[in-house]
Order: sequence, then C-alpha cells, then structure tokens
Amino acid sequence: MPFIQRNGVLCADEVPLDQIAARFGTPCFVYSAASIESAYREFAVALHGRPAQICYSVKANSNLAVLGLLARLGAGFDIVSGGELARVLAAGGEARRTLFSGVGKSEAEIRGALENGIGCINLESEGELARVHALAGALGKRAPVAFRVNPDIDAKTHAYISTGLRETKFGVPHADAERLYKQAQAMKSVELVGIGCHIGSLLSDSKPFVAAAERLVALLDRLEAAGIRLQHVDVGGGIGIRYKDENPEPAGSFVAGVLAALGRRPHTLIVDPGRAIVGNAGVLLTRVEYVKPRFLVVDAGMNDLIRPALYGAWHEVKAVRESGCAPGVYDIVGPVCESADFLAKERRLAAAQGELLAVMSCGAYAMSMSSNYNTRPRAAEVLVAGGRAHLVRRRESVEELFALERIQG
Ligand code: LLP
Repeated sequence: MPFIQRNGVLCADEVPLDQIAARFGTPCFVYSAASIESAYREFAVALHGRPAQICYSVKANSNLAVLGLLARLGAGFDIVSGGELARVLAAGGEARRTLFSGVGKSEAEIRGALENGIGCINLESEGELARVHALAGALGKRAPVAFRVNPDIDAKTHAYISTGLRETKFGVPHADAERLYKQAQAMKSVELVGIGCHIGSLLSDSKPFVAAAERLVALLDRLEAAGIRLQHVDVGGGIGIRYKDENPEPAGSFVAGVLAALGRRPHTLIVDPGRAIVGNAGVLLTRVEYVKPRFLVVDAGMNDLIRPALYGAWHEVKAVRESGCAPGVYDIVGPVCESADFLAKERRLAAAQGELLAVMSCGAYAMSMSSNYNTRPRAAEVLVAGGRAHLVRRRESVEELFALERIQG
C-alpha cells in the first residue's frame, strides 16, 4: 500500500504528505513510483514466458516522469494523439513499441506517426484505412496496421467509458472486419500486423474482457484461414481498480483468461492497461480553505479532478493528520463556480480550516483530464521515488495561462 498512516500522518511510501504540501504547495498530485512499478510487474509476471507486450495507455497519466519510469521498465505505449506520441518520445519510449488508437486521427498525426516509425496504427474505419494507405504511399513507406474491431460486447461499466457495443463510435463493426482485412491486404502501402479491441474501462469482472478476446481469436482464425497472417492480438485495457468497495479480479486473472483464449497460437499478446497501473498510485493533496455547515471548501476543484462531476465517480477522502476537532458530515467541494464542483459527497470527516486532505486513487484520469476552468493554474505533480519527493511538474502560473492571448486581434 503506497499511502499509509505512519506516526499519525498519511505518507506516500515513506514521505509524509504534510511535508510534501509544505514544500510544493496545494493542490498537488503525489504519485508513488514503487506502486506504479509493482502494478506494472503484476502484468509482466502474468505474461512471463509468452510473446507479449504491455502498452501502457498514456491517457491515464501522461506525466513525462511516469512515462519515463514505465519506459525503463520495458513498457510500450498506447496513444491517441500526436501529442501523446511526442510525450512518449520525449520520455524515452520507443515508437516501434507504440500503438496509435483513436477514431479521429488527422493527416498530420498519421504522417508524424509513420515518420517516427510507429509500431502499429489501430484503424477504426474504412476511411482511415484509405487515408493511412495514401499517406504511407506518399512517404514511400508501408504502414503497420491493425483494425480495432468492435466486438459488440457489453462491458457492464459506466456508459461514458463503455466502448465495446455496436452503438459506440469505436472500432469497425465485427461483421465488416473480414471484408476490411481482405481489402487492406490488397493495398501495397499497408502491412497488416495485428487485430485489436477495447471494450471499456473500469471492469471488475474479467468475463466480458475474455469473451471479447475469444471473439477476436475466432476472427483471427478465420482471417488466417483466408491467408491473412497477423503477428499480434491486442485485447485492450480496462482492468479495474478499487475506488470504494469494488472487488476487481487481479490483473493476473484477466491476463490468464486471455492467454487461455489464445491457447497455443504463436501471436504476441498485447494488453494496454492504464488505470490498473497508475490509478491507485496517486493522491490529490488539497487544503481546507473554509468549513461551512455542510461543506468543506478545499483548494482543489473539478478542474483538477473532474471524475466525480462527470461520472458520479467515488473517491475516498482521508485526513492527512488526525484532526483535534469533532467530526462532521460534509460535501467536499472546490472553489469553482459550478454546483457540480464536488470531489466527494456526504463524508464523515474531522477537519478544520488549514488542514490537509488526500483524495485517494487519483493516479489515473485526474491530472490528465484537468483543465484551466476559472483560470485556475494546473496543480503541481510530485513523484516519490527512492524515499524522496521529486517535483515532476511545477504548478502553472496565471501568466502562463494567458501567455498565448492578445488583447487585439
Ligand atoms: N486502450 C484503449 C484503446 C482505450 O481507449 C483505453 C481507455 C485504454 C486502453 C485504457 O483503459 P484503462 O485500462 O485505463 O481502463 N476517463 C475515464 C476513463 C476513459 C478510458 C478511455 N479509454 C475515467 O476517468 O474513468
């Protein structure tokens, strides 16, 4: 457990969070390198002895220090924009071990990916196949591609993060996949290297995940029978973590189910987890600004952590130090001018003005989804590694927020 109480103070590994707040200010994201590493190793151990690649999903937490740490551990990456590719390269990751997903890749993004030697472009439409083919041809290259197939399987998760059903925008329909593979095989500037899917995020149960992999493998067999040879099967990410009382199956059992579906086939298995690697490795450290009868007003808001407002997500909130004052039941709210600006509702907490709270499970989809709404500078990010706290992104200044603007057009 990366965040535990020692001598009455909540710590990130061995570093007390109140020291981190004193040094770097609040709001502040604090990540544990040891926790990221051990979550990564859980996947690596489960895949050991098989041709496999873990492609960490950059959107979950794209801080360069986090990406660099994972690159050093041997991770590949799953990206969804030219910006994320630039981050991977800046952090020391390799393009050839990077998958490019996403329904709306622009010409510039595809060209950049090809020029940098991307490992695979996950095609999500027929139009994208044509675009990639044309751009690769113009560059005199063969683009390594796979189709992201929408398996029409219900991941049974929040509708906003469910992606494997026919009615979502993601991937090509399962029924069209064979035709598209045959079409692509006849095109000389693309090279078919794999097949993929991703059914959704925050899954506790491995059954839909494994069912999607089984559908993918059955399709793979049909393609191979038609003379289309592929190198990899990418089963996506989506492995859940515990925020409250969920009891997600461990990463190892998701992987074991998929390995069983693959059987003795020689293909490289690719998984692209995000949240399972970083989600519980981070907290958002915030200070109580005011205590109102039903509210603790803190210095972090929905611009720092939008998950409660957007998905009704639940994050545990802990006091960093035991407070001397009497506990009350509070909504924990930020300074943003929206009623949806809450981090947690109806929590029993003892806290006084000036005291510190830690919003738990903020390693994934927190800073990476943050904004500057209300002209609020983004929070600082700190990585605890080797028993020390390192500032890995300094707090933004207000001037930086309007540096690109002009008073007259
Ligand atoms: N692979 C693909 C193609 C994806 O679209 C995603 C996430 C992942 C992998 C990683 O999923 P993970 O292992 O992290 O569940 N903002 C939402 C989650 C959106 C996930 C989008 N796609 C949240 O805060 O819950």
